[in-house]
Amino acid sequence: MSNKIRITDLKAMKDRGEKIAMITAYDATIARILDEVGVDCLLVGDSLGNVVQGLETTLPVTLDEIIYHTKLVSRGTRRSHISADMPFMSYQVSIDEAVRNAGRLVKEGGAESVKLEINEKYIDTINAIFKSGIPVVSHLGLCPQSVHVMGGYKLQGKSKEDHKKLLQLAVLSEKAGASVVLLESVPSKLAKEITETLKIPTIGIGAGSDCDGQVLVINDLCGLSEEPLPKFVKKYGDIRKVISDSVSSYISEVKSSIFPSKENSYDN
Ligand code: KIV
Repeated sequence: MSNKIRITDLKAMKDRGEKIAMITAYDATIARILDEVGVDCLLVGDSLGNVVQGLETTLPVTLDEIIYHTKLVSRGTRRSHISADMPFMSYQVSIDEAVRNAGRLVKEGGAESVKLEINEKYIDTINAIFKSGIPVVSHLGLCPQSVHVMGGYKLQGKSKEDHKKLLQLAVLSEKAGASVVLLESVPSKLAKEITETLKIPTIGIGAGSDCDGQVLVINDLCGLSEEPLPKFVKKYGDIRKVISDSVSSYISEVKSSIFPSKENSYDN
């Protein structure tokens, strides 16, 4: 546990100009690989609704499901910081419920911080969770849980007014006790201004290169997701092809009785 990355280490990284690499994870096997390769922060995102559960939106994802996946990720992780998403309706109803549910992610799942998609209504919620001793990641910009009010998955903060609002929201998040601000799908210029204004780190996804760190969904970056992918994704591998080539070879070897060979069989 001695080299465990704490939320405070992320701030220290910002202070010394070291970029933060965050990736989503949903199970112990992938978490172990990401942890061993040196990812600073694992996010058990409610994107698991899309990439694990095959849902169209993240809205149906439940708190119990996030707790379950956070437990799996915790088991595979030694060093990386673990942040878990608060899913839709786990913090919207009341501040008490939000604190209780954030507590469940920490106590039952093993999360070390919780992430909330916020607007100005949730500043007091951030403060209450922070005061209960749980670090908060404040997610601003495109908030997929608000897909219906936002009218789709669109770039946010484009107009002068929205630019000002998001900047203010970032400042209010920091004042309320947030440890990290996550910026999704906002213009690079706005992300740069927020990053330069805040003392806490910013982590971007579709927010340009000036954020203090970046996050991507593991399935997208490894080439496991179906294409087309959003503009902000860079595909670093082609796991989809590796799986389909491996399984095609397996099928053909089973059909032609090549597999199992002697090496894969037991003698007496
Ligand atoms: O749910 C998630 O994985 C996220 C990231 C894409 C930032 O919120």
